[in-house]
Amino acid sequence: MAEDLTIAKSGTKEEQYISLIPQIEALLYGETDQIANLANVCAALKEQFGWFWVGFYLVKKEELVLGPFQGPVACTRIKKGKGVCGASWEQNATIIVPNVDEFPGHIACASASKSEIVLPLYKGKNIIGVLDVDSEYLAHFDEVDSKYLNEIINLLNA
Ligand code: SME
Repeated sequence: MAEDLTIAKSGTKEEQYISLIPQIEALLYGETDQIANLANVCAALKEQFGWFWVGFYLVKKEELVLGPFQGPVACTRIKKGKGVCGASWEQNATIIVPNVDEFPGHIACASASKSEIVLPLYKGKNIIGVLDVDSEYLAHFDEVDSKYLNEIINLLNA
């Protein structure tokens, strides 16, 4: 496994995802440990995009519990339906929040976070957690992020 990523410093966001995805595939290849893979996906995304916070919450009993992440310390437990993460889990849907102050029930782990995207993480067809990405800029995430982050998440469900 190559341990250094080649980070595309120029190009559109789409081009940066297209450069990163095969490298994530290579990182995951042959490794079956879920925590190791989730941790490397967070690190690769943080390195490429420099987002404020990127990490996973994993379903444990009736809650989401903080998993591997990159960024400042975060809240550890989120109930189903609560915040953007709990809503994504409950609705089984990707949620893009352009302005977190306008999302009812948003859980503010850090006041610097202004916009967010949360995507369900699957094992087979079951949701086993969510990927949460936060930005310190308003309206930072769009359908391009949704498309490629979903592709990355699907690699974890191989
Ligand atoms: N903002 C999230 C909580 C997790 S942190 O952003 C890391 C939410 O509303 O679910």
